[in-house]
Amino acid sequence: MARETAYSCSECGLQSAQWHGQCPGCNAWNTLIEERLPAAGARSQGRGRRRVGGEGAAAHGGARNGRARRPALAARPLREVGAAPLQRMSTGIGELDRVLGGGLVPGSLVLLGGSPGIGKSTLTNMALGHLQEAGHRTLYVSGEESAEQVRLRAERLGQGALKVPILAETDLDTVLDTIAAEGPAACVIDSVQTLNSGELSGAPGSVGQVREVAGQIMELAKSRGTAVILVGHVTKEGALAGPRVLEHLVDCVLQFEGERERPYRELRALKNRFGSTNEAGLFEMRQGGLVEVLDASARFVAEATRAPGSVVLAAMEGSRPLLVEVQALVAPSELEQPRRVVSGLDRNRLALVLAILGRHGRIGTGGSDVFVNVVGGVRVDEPGCDLAVALAVASASRGVALNGTPRACFGELGLTGELRWVGHPERRLEEAAKHGCAEVIAPVDSGAGACEAATLRDALTLALPTGSRRLTQAVA
Ligand code: TYD
Ligand code: MG
Repeated sequence: MARETAYSCSECGLQSAQWHGQCPGCNAWNTLIEERLPAAGARSQGRGRRRVGGEGAAAHGGARNGRARRPALAARPLREVGAAPLQRMSTGIGELDRVLGGGLVPGSLVLLGGSPGIGKSTLTNMALGHLQEAGHRTLYVSGEESAEQVRLRAERLGQGALKVPILAETDLDTVLDTIAAEGPAACVIDSVQTLNSGELSGAPGSVGQVREVAGQIMELAKSRGTAVILVGHVTKEGALAGPRVLEHLVDCVLQFEGERERPYRELRALKNRFGSTNEAGLFEMRQGGLVEVLDASARFVAEATRAPGSVVLAAMEGSRPLLVEVQALVAPSELEQPRRVVSGLDRNRLALVLAILGRHGRIGTGGSDVFVNVVGGVRVDEPGCDLAVALAVASASRGVALNGTPRACFGELGLTGELRWVGHPERRLEEAAKHGCAEVIAPVDSGAGACEAATLRDALTLALPTGSRRLTQAVA
């Protein structure tokens, strides 16, 4: 077959028959991507991947020579559009179902990203195992590992996982033919970067290849109602390797994160056409695969050290409250630019909190290294964490434990030192009370049971023991 490909620039859209390292149009480097040119004639033979059916088919009929104008269509109000309720398939893993918005939607394309060794293959294999046991047809396409290697993993995951049919293959056409022949209800491609289409010359995993692979799989999946999970690698910077284009193409982007050395893993939705992106699921990697962590708050509170520099944060993980321990260490620095090291939080957020703490709380950290860590390898991505960071740093800086620990807190800090209201105070307070944190420092209007503070100064007064407070005021 003649190669009908061209190179187009992902920045300015310039098309070129040849590849250039630097785009002749906009001078950007490494932006030319090989793409298949739209076919001149009919290419509808083969697997019947072009979608046919409904009103669309009639409108397209006979107008494929590109000249004939299509008749105008009548637009309808949305309420008259018949939409069948989504029939979701449960993956048998509660946390995964919740993050997906209630289960896998037939015909949907899910992209699961995560760094190597985090547990993507384990999670998808377990999900397919449960689906297979529930009577759905499944298919696991492994481009990365041999069938034997996948089997060895499945042996650790139990009987269900061993029933999943596997195809160890990297050629896109073979994979598409197999999906068409097997007709699975759910299919995993592990990973999308390893498949390659013979029609493009780029190496597997290059942007053009990945886009082509994902595009063709999507066409097939949508036409057959197959739910597909594409596993994708993540670069050191945390972005999906190569193609951001994939994020636009798929219905749902899930990110599996955590530290490989730690047992906890978090699953988050970054995009979801069929559910909320606020949800997060917590797992623990054990001998027999991933186990859902349902009592995370109890564990983190029980493990909290109650030492200077430790504070419990009543955070929200999507719609679910979660208590986590935030720890800080403040130590004199020998560097001209003292270190600011965070894990589990946004680095810029720490810089902001330290500035507010210095200006409005009179606790300066200018000459010290500051380390802040959310214990357990969990990531907290919400504004409510500000106060916990501030109190942990204040407590570490003064070298005194907070009053009446375990005590929890939450709240966002404003630039003028005020403590701002954050979402779901009642759920946070309830969770804190349930796990023995009787006193919770919270913004005004958080509801009954909170020790309310209007400003950072008020919160410090409530949290720090009297002696150390005097010290603070003396410095002021
Ligand atoms: P894997 O799913 O292969 O990660 P990924 O596909 O994201 O690269 O699993 C990664 C790690 O999980 C591996 O180092 C071994 C560990 N593991 C367990 O601890 N217990 C288990 O039951 C399994 C299957 C894996
Ligand atoms: Mg893997």
